[in-house]
Amino acid sequence: MVKFAQSQTRIFGILTSGGDCPGLNAAIRGVCRAAYDRYGMSIVGFANGYRGLIAGNYRFLRPEDFWGIITRGGTILGASREKPFKQESGDYEIAGDKVAAIKEHYHRLNLDCLVILGGNGTHNTGYRLAREGLNVIGMPKTIDNDLQGTDRTFGFHSALSIATEAIDRLHTTAVSHSRVMVIELMGHKTGWLSLYAGVAGGGDIILIPEIPYDIKVIGDFLRQRRDQGKNFSIVVIAEGAMSKEEAAMEKKERKKFREKTHMVSIGYRVAQEIEKETGMETRPTVLGYVQRGGIPSASDRVLATSLGTAAADLLAQGQYGRMVSYTNDAITSVDLSVPAEKIKTVPRDHYMIDTAIAVGTCMGM
Ligand code: F6P
Repeated sequence: MVKFAQSQTRIFGILTSGGDCPGLNAAIRGVCRAAYDRYGMSIVGFANGYRGLIAGNYRFLRPEDFWGIITRGGTILGASREKPFKQESGDYEIAGDKVAAIKEHYHRLNLDCLVILGGNGTHNTGYRLAREGLNVIGMPKTIDNDLQGTDRTFGFHSALSIATEAIDRLHTTAVSHSRVMVIELMGHKTGWLSLYAGVAGGGDIILIPEIPYDIKVIGDFLRQRRDQGKNFSIVVIAEGAMSKEEAAMEKKERKKFREKTHMVSIGYRVAQEIEKETGMETRPTVLGYVQRGGIPSASDRVLATSLGTAAADLLAQGQYGRMVSYTNDAITSVDLSVPAEKIKTVPRDHYMIDTAIAVGTCMGM
């Protein structure tokens, strides 16, 4: 371990960016306590993600700021989806003003490094800033669990518990009314949360973006359940799930089609499709931001804390340009380019898909 006086980092900035999730405060506490107590570093907290870094909205964090926050949901620093490299047009280019402002604040504060807590977008920005000459260390958070370079992100386990409880509650009312219940969970591009919550909650059908669904297959499955004397069914669907017809469309065409057919969201559309296909009474529920709120699970607190202390070690060793990660039951780190690239989707041969199918779950195909 690096000795207190030998730390390569004397002062660093920290921010939380992208959608919030349970465990962010536990992670802030982990990195800040270890950085402060073990290595004597000074810490600058930026407000509302990259927005605060651009605007120079910051404060020096004192130990009392990060004491007692392990149980708190949200983030004491605030968050935003600000993407400083993204132009109005949506293209990624060297966006002059914002990046210049970031560099100016970084250098004016004499920062040795910037610690960013976030998902794919946050790390993409962090990687670009690293290429612009800033020292950056990343920490993986998101309820979507879709970050490359880590087996798990903090926030995922808490969201999984909340979603599973919601499915459990839908079960009892589904049975009482002999209904099909559709529950829509978050996950625009990936189905990790729906797959895990669907298995944990004993969902009968699980629909994820990675496996385009066939409404006829769903209809046959539901009729078969009815013929077996089962009076209800639970459908767990990720917000980015799509039919096989949509999957065959070009991205732009699909976007337009979804805008036209979604009504409120995909859960509502699929509930309507099921009623039309089977005649069974079907009700949609969109769990929404409840999934991201509230206290972190014990598992997320542990993960966020160990990733936080590992980030402090990287700071002390001057190992910049990396993201701390949890891989093969060990805390390690990967190059920042890894989480900055493509998101991690559920592979077709993932064991959880086979697990779901083996217990009789229909995956819509
Ligand atoms: O945190 C990730 C995520 O939960 C996605 O699954 C979801 O689509 C998105 O955030 C929505 O969040 P917001 O409305 O804050 O952009």
